[in-house]
Amino acid sequence: MNPSIPVLSVNALYKQYVSVPNLRNHRHQLKSKRALAGVSLTLTPGLYGLLGPNGAGKSTLIGIITGTLAADSGEVLWCGKPARGIRFRRILGYMPQQQGLYDSYTGRRFLAYMAALKELPRKAVPAEVDRVAAAVNLSAELDKRLSAYSGGMKQRLLLASALLGDPKLLILDEPTAGLDPKERVRLRTLLAQMAADRIILVATHVVSDVETVATEVILLRAGQIVDAAPVPDLIAKYAPGHGLEDVYLAVFGEGDGK
Ligand SMILES: Nc1ncnc2c1ncn2[C@@H]1O[C@H](COP(=O)(O)OP(=O)(O)OP(=O)(O)O)[C@@H](O)[C@H]1O
Ligand SMILES: [Mg+2]
Repeated sequence: MNPSIPVLSVNALYKQYVSVPNLRNHRHQLKSKRALAGVSLTLTPGLYGLLGPNGAGKSTLIGIITGTLAADSGEVLWCGKPARGIRFRRILGYMPQQQGLYDSYTGRRFLAYMAALKELPRKAVPAEVDRVAAAVNLSAELDKRLSAYSGGMKQRLLLASALLGDPKLLILDEPTAGLDPKERVRLRTLLAQMAADRIILVATHVVSDVETVATEVILLRAGQIVDAAPVPDLIAKYAPGHGLEDVYLAVFGEGDGK
């Protein structure tokens, strides 16, 4: 496989969460929840929207791709090789759905810290921190402590952190949650530009985040891919003459998707 063309392959991922519901219950019955039931995908450069109801398995899929969760079976390959280790971490930018922040840090210190974890060359860090902060319109706030950041500012800081090192694979779990409309549009434009030569996977509930810019939209329900296609194809198939929101309602309208 040509290593200069990024390809992410996800092959037959299965994941079940097992939990003990109540230790005082002497029957000690284990509860299990099937979160992914055979998910396969091949992504080449472009912007991919991952849509599905609460509990569909989006964060689980993202967790497994990014290596923060282990699958029960299946594999994730980057350019044909297992997506693991520092080689993969260097090309990966990941923004989780939820992440604690160190309130006493300034934005600049947080980004420098994340750059160090990513093992970016030390000399390159200050300029890289400025670059990613500018990309998310946070340059003026970099020297404030995170305790003084608004929710949307924290969200943009996490996004900036995912952009460190100019990753070839960018995975964002609900990146626009809490963003005002102006920042939401800015992010959409930024992602559309960046998708020209990298793979961007965005899980979202906000259909308009991906409707006009996605190369493909992946519809996930109850741990399985229902369909994955360009937006016009999905509209033609599920909601002719309407929009992506109507596709969503047509596909996920009945049941809770879990
Ligand atoms: N740590 C966990 N332990 C047990 N079950 C879990 C755990 N994490 C997720 N699940 C279950 O796995 C399923 C998939 O969850 P997941 O978080 O991947 O969904 P999601 O599509 O990201 O949802 P949302 O839109 O709410 O973020 C859900 O039924 C959820 O309850
Ligand atoms: Mg989620």
